[in-house]
Amino acid sequence: MWKPNPGPQTRFMQSPAYEVLYGGAAGGGKSEALLVEALRHVAVPGYHAILFRRTFPELERSLIQRSQALYPGLGGVYRSQQRRWAFPSGATITFGHLEGENDQYKYQSAEFAFLGFDELTSFTEAQYLYLFSRARTTARQESGKPLPVRIRAATNPGGVGHAWVKARFIDPLPPFQIGYFIRENDVERRVAPRIAGALSRQFIPATIADNPVLMEVDSGYRERLMALPLIERERLLNGNWSIAPTGNVFKPEWFQLAQGDPTGLRWARYWDLATSVRTHADYTASARVALDADGVLYISALERFKAEWPETRRRILAVAAAEPGVQVGVEKTGFQLAAIQELRTLPELVGTSLLEVMPKGDKLARALSWSARAEAGKVRLVAGPWVGDFIQECVGFSGDGSTHDDQVDAVSGAVQMLAARAAIALGTHWQEPGPRTED
Ligand SMILES: Nc1ncnc2c1ncn2[C@@H]1O[C@H](COP(=O)(O)OP(=O)(O)O)[C@@H](O)[C@H]1O
Ligand SMILES: [Mg+2]
Repeated sequence: MWKPNPGPQTRFMQSPAYEVLYGGAAGGGKSEALLVEALRHVAVPGYHAILFRRTFPELERSLIQRSQALYPGLGGVYRSQQRRWAFPSGATITFGHLEGENDQYKYQSAEFAFLGFDELTSFTEAQYLYLFSRARTTARQESGKPLPVRIRAATNPGGVGHAWVKARFIDPLPPFQIGYFIRENDVERRVAPRIAGALSRQFIPATIADNPVLMEVDSGYRERLMALPLIERERLLNGNWSIAPTGNVFKPEWFQLAQGDPTGLRWARYWDLATSVRTHADYTASARVALDADGVLYISALERFKAEWPETRRRILAVAAAEPGVQVGVEKTGFQLAAIQELRTLPELVGTSLLEVMPKGDKLARALSWSARAEAGKVRLVAGPWVGDFIQECVGFSGDGSTHDDQVDAVSGAVQMLAARAAIALGTHWQEPGPRTED
């Protein structure tokens, strides 16, 4: 028999609110609670529920897979073509995903008494609000009472929708807005506004400590969360909604200095190109990095400048000539395709087997891929005039482009270049341990 955990899962399942967010840390039993909560009225003919994840692969790996263990017990039969469970009463639970911003219109004519969103911060507010209009039902319970319409969501903090989800469920209501908070077991709860027709909203926080099953079967899970970069760790381990990237992706005391390049390492030189000299244009930035056998990342000879393409090309070639044996890489983006094409054919670079690196993830995700290493004391800056400026940029870094981030981004690219190089050498897929941001 399935039982909710005595903490947040129970409160989630007891909530009378119209809209509930089960939020907080990873492993708190959120996806499980959504799956089970969707079952509540499956004995009622005409009950239709839908559970969303942003993308289909995520849906398949998490909710669909787990439903196979939970739904057959109630007579559910799965039709994978429609991604839909049908129950003996005629009730259904469908799985949906909303990859593109306009995919919500697929559900234009549908009606659901239960809408569930897993990892809500991966959705846009527009998607969420549009689907609200699909929440309705004409089905009645055995007692003759209409089925309640319910919207349930679960999420970790972080992700594209972090700001709107936080504003909707977690931040205190502005005084002029209808609704109020009460405190319950030390937790703030947003309560139904007491006016007719208004919709109530509740936030139920949870952490991994609330999920005894997980703690028992996978005791290493907590340790894996502990190894995440500070921001991800705060979000996924402690359910922290307020931690801001600025000042928390990098702290100045995390960096150590080295005197001179260590010898015997295979260096990689990465270029993030910008070929405009306009006042607000980005800098061309470049970093030289290497990884030693102990996993220490050395950053050396970082530079940035603004120049037109011929001058930029001249500098790339001059640096390559001064650093024989250093592999050269370049950020592969659509904007700089012409420049990259030219680099490919330059005889001076042919011997270096120019590595073209497609940037993966947003700037924040890329920086997080090496910030945990910095926190562990495993990033050394080879002393030079660039160091002070670089640390200052790191500390102000937020990933949202509000401050200059060319140098941080150049290092992120160089780190990705090391990963790509290792993958080629090993014939395997090697990656910096990046943040785990889902499930
Ligand atoms: N009430 C429960 N009974 C048994 N197993 C549970 C229960 N709640 C969660 N689990 C299990 O704990 C693990 C983590 O739960 P999950 O819902 O995936 O967490 P989250 O979505 O918050 O990261 C999963 O393996 C899930 O099956
Ligand atoms: Mg989950």
